[in-house]
Amino acid sequence: MDSAQLKQQVTMAATSLAGRIGQSFEVAVVLGSGLSSFVEQLHDTVMVPYNEIPGFPVSTVKGHQSRVVVGTIGDHRVLCFSGRFHYYEGYDAATVSIPVRVAHALGVRSVLLTNAAGGISNVLRLGDLMVIVDHLNLFAADSPLRGLSDELFGTKFVNMYTAYTATLATKLREVGERLGLPMATGVYAGLSGPQFETRAEIHMLRLLGADAVGMSTIPEVIVANQLGIRTGAVSVITDLATETTTELSHEQVLASATRADAHLARLLAGVIEEGI
Ligand code: HPA
Repeated sequence: MDSAQLKQQVTMAATSLAGRIGQSFEVAVVLGSGLSSFVEQLHDTVMVPYNEIPGFPVSTVKGHQSRVVVGTIGDHRVLCFSGRFHYYEGYDAATVSIPVRVAHALGVRSVLLTNAAGGISNVLRLGDLMVIVDHLNLFAADSPLRGLSDELFGTKFVNMYTAYTATLATKLREVGERLGLPMATGVYAGLSGPQFETRAEIHMLRLLGADAVGMSTIPEVIVANQLGIRTGAVSVITDLATETTTELSHEQVLASATRADAHLARLLAGVIEEGI
């Protein structure tokens, strides 16, 4: 996508949303596949379906509610994207990250990204909430920053050395443990999908140091870092992507995500309540 078009889409979406839901949000939450019950934690909500936001792409995947939900948790104003755009739907990396740019335009300076992921590390169990502390970007050749002009969006050469804000990761872990949730910590490998991994790929990911694998989040993390947004991310472990797995489907991933969804909702609400 070229810079002018991206800027136009972000500006249109932000202007339209500002008119309907206001500005000065503190925190944005992006909910991944099968993960939508966090919106029930919000008070005084207003919802805007994505298809009513000019400049927004249209999500096509099952299990996505595809709407912006704004509301409050305690004193905190939260901008929640329920349903995300995936690279595997055919969007480029810049397009899937538009919600993060729109959130920034609406005042957001902290973002919590969530996803469903396959567990690779032997210590992970189904339903674990894995706080992401680093990632392996295996989204082939695309980057959400590719081809953008520096003047419009900040530096192209974004420092990713501390892509996940350490204090936010610690807080996610601490709050989760205090709430008695099944917490873990690890490295997320992001692949473009939509096919799941071969046995050899799972083996490779393990050797490379991945703890979990999924098909999202990384483009958004890159953009959040370009914009100076504090970034926290959590993977819900929906399947165990071990070399001995014989069966795996999107439906299975969604069903597991739904089972863990209430835990994720409590974690996010708990962290936001404390202030991030
Ligand atoms: N692999 C890739 N992406 C995923 C998986 C997986 O096992 N589970 C949920 N998203």
